Amino acid sequence: MGSTTESLGVVGAAAVSKASLAEQFRCVRQTSVRCCAPLSVEDHSLQAMPDASPAKWHLAHTTWFFEIFLLTEHLPGYKTINPAFRNLFNSYYNAVGDRPLRAMRHVLSRPSLEELHAYRAHVDEAMEQLLARDLSPDLAGLVALGLNHEQQHQELILTDVKYGLAANPLRPAYRARHAECAQTEPGASELTWFSFAKGLYPIGVESEGFYFDNESPRHNVYLEPFRLASRLVTNGEYLEFMHDQSYATAALWLSDGWDTVRANQWNAPLYWEQRNGDWWHFTLDGMQPVNEAEPVCHVSYYEADAFARWAGARLATEFEWELAALNVPMEGNFMDSGALHPQVAPDSTSLSQMFGDVWEWTGSAYLAYPGYHPAPGAVGEYNGKFMSNQMVLRGGSCATPQSHIRRTYRNFFPPHARWQFMGIRLANGD
Ligand SMILES: [Fe+2]
Repeated sequence: MGSTTESLGVVGAAAVSKASLAEQFRCVRQTSVRCCAPLSVEDHSLQAMPDASPAKWHLAHTTWFFEIFLLTEHLPGYKTINPAFRNLFNSYYNAVGDRPLRAMRHVLSRPSLEELHAYRAHVDEAMEQLLARDLSPDLAGLVALGLNHEQQHQELILTDVKYGLAANPLRPAYRARHAECAQTEPGASELTWFSFAKGLYPIGVESEGFYFDNESPRHNVYLEPFRLASRLVTNGEYLEFMHDQSYATAALWLSDGWDTVRANQWNAPLYWEQRNGDWWHFTLDGMQPVNEAEPVCHVSYYEADAFARWAGARLATEFEWELAALNVPMEGNFMDSGALHPQVAPDSTSLSQMFGDVWEWTGSAYLAYPGYHPAPGAVGEYNGKFMSNQMVLRGGSCATPQSHIRRTYRNFFPPHARWQFMGIRLANGD
């Protein structure tokens, strides 16, 4: 195993100056609060399913991460506001200790939201003291991990709140309608194919900045020739799949997928509902008519796989996706654009929508790269222990902070999950 710094996946974090790390810290912490700004106190406690945590819990747990892994260990004299928070806001770290049941996070009406904001302020103040010190590369790496962790939870705040608000019969909007959504939008661009040659390609992280341990080690993967679609699958294309009775055609589905479709009576993506014969869907701006030119979103891996089969194609492997993304600028419709909804693909002569809009399901199971070692200690529980029964998604979404994404970034969810901004890009053999 490499040094602690390497196994944390934060090589090069020492190059980040103290001032810029402190600046990043303030920026990330403020963004979480901004994500919650449109929420009422009651909205902060929504947990409409076990997987979707209350916004209040996200605000506390991200703070807990800095308290447990940085302040308690590395700021002499640090005193917690409440020792019970150590277990109360633990998510899944067995090495840290016990924690409340995930599905019961909504019962934490106390401490109040006001008290949790005081907890955030307390930890922020102590972190300022820590960040003013000369941090070792390991410690700077841990701060970077905490910041990237909080950015992941910012995306979850948005997707979990969306799920909670959608469960309300009133379908209340998260915020007032975004101005850009009111504009007349263009139709979808024509779908074309980009070809990639067979070869042995390096996969995994090479950069010196922060990365998660699951993106390493860099290793070679042999790929057969393949083609990748120029843009994401649209709602209009998905409607054709629906109109072809695909949700009732067993031959299109994986066995687990077919069972899931039948058990849950799925007949459309999550958040879609028919009103007077027209399809509408719930967005963070409330109910909107489904725009056929926009990328389809909130589909499971099972639906992505079935759609690809129906279309005579397949999903890309995560390695094919990473190779294709190599020369694509990491620009797109991220959280930063403020749209918080996937947008119509621009006319482009190159691959479009690779970054932002929706996480793209790949056909790759979430597994360790050859030679992978989780970090020692509690933070080693961050990624490695989840490497079973999940599929990899790539590219980030309209709820991902832009500074959080990388070409080598591996997101992962179980194949039935739909509540993240998840969509489809087709691939094929050459
Ligand atoms: Fe977490």
